[in-house]
Amino acid sequence: MIPQARKNIREINPYVPGKPIEEVRRELKLRGSILKLASNENPLGPSPRAMAALRRGIRDVHLYPDDNCFYLSRALADRLGVAQDRLIFGNGSVDIIDFIVKSFVAPGDHVVYSQGAFIMYAIAAKMADARASAVPLREYAHDLDAMAAAVTPRTRVVFVANPNNPTGTMVDAAQVGRFLGRIPGTCVVVFDEAYYEYLDRNDFPDTIRLIDRHPNVMVLRTFSKIYGLAGLRVGFGVGHPEMIATIRKVRLPFNVGLLSQMACLAAIGDTRHVAASRAMNAAGKKYLYGQFDAMGLPYVRSEGNFVLIDVRTDSRAVFDALQRLGVIVRPVKNYGFPTHLRVTVGTPPQNRRLVAGLKRVLAGPPR
Ligand SMILES: Cc1ncc(COP(=O)(O)O)c(C=O)c1O
Repeated sequence: MIPQARKNIREINPYVPGKPIEEVRRELKLRGSILKLASNENPLGPSPRAMAALRRGIRDVHLYPDDNCFYLSRALADRLGVAQDRLIFGNGSVDIIDFIVKSFVAPGDHVVYSQGAFIMYAIAAKMADARASAVPLREYAHDLDAMAAAVTPRTRVVFVANPNNPTGTMVDAAQVGRFLGRIPGTCVVVFDEAYYEYLDRNDFPDTIRLIDRHPNVMVLRTFSKIYGLAGLRVGFGVGHPEMIATIRKVRLPFNVGLLSQMACLAAIGDTRHVAASRAMNAAGKKYLYGQFDAMGLPYVRSEGNFVLIDVRTDSRAVFDALQRLGVIVRPVKNYGFPTHLRVTVGTPPQNRRLVAGLKRVLAGPPR
């Protein structure tokens, strides 16, 4: 007999990550190359400068890392134009979602997010034994009016993934301005901007600059996406110094490893890698849109490095058939999209392989 977990923990539907390539290979006994377009990773890989930093850093891994990520924090503060006391680092940005909920949400408190938004918000709320409102999306985008209307005096956190995962839609500066005007200062508003560096829109809200006027705003970003360092697990939060000081209390010591700090510091300086990743993503999206149009597949135009497509049939069957062809994508039924797949934008050959696989699978009955 094993001890029973708390009721709210028993009720959690665990996060299901995209499977690692090797696991899929073993399970399906696949030979040949496997293409993973399931987790919105950077298909160009890590920045060469980050890789060099990792090689340099390896000899020091008997030492604990800098608990405050000093050099990384200084470089990032400089890049973002904020003081270092406005930054907090996490083992991925999911770590900071957890810190925020732990710091501000007591059992019975209320949390708001969108129904079709990043699933970790629901899990974090459940872990805290909070009540949650999952507000339906409107045309694949956050309905900020409805989200503001869902806020009550017991609401402690509202999560806004911007751009949103898995839809790729964004809310603009004007919408965010109106929204913040309706949220009480007692409620933390988290703008989760994991895909920020891929954006190409001048109406995107400058949320970091909104913090002075709205000290309840927290902005999350990550090194997992355009910086190509998902395996090193580093994300960061930007907020008012008092918010950051509070959140730091629940952070476990040394939560960002030594190699991770060194690689992220190098990656920030690798503007060439970031520019190349952005350009390839933009070209890849254009190619995929053209192909999906030609195939008559509806899709959502994306501000990120992934596209949500409607395969107009049970997407799980399409996912399984693609996987047997060695192409891993992400079915998103758990986000409320039973006929959609989310595909990460790859390199040009990867995108061609994805399209060829989709054509083959959709042409016949799923094998
Ligand atoms: C909106 C959003 N937030 C956060 C994350 C998690 O990022 P990290 O790897 O920094 O924990 C993801 C990852 O897919 C995401 O899509």
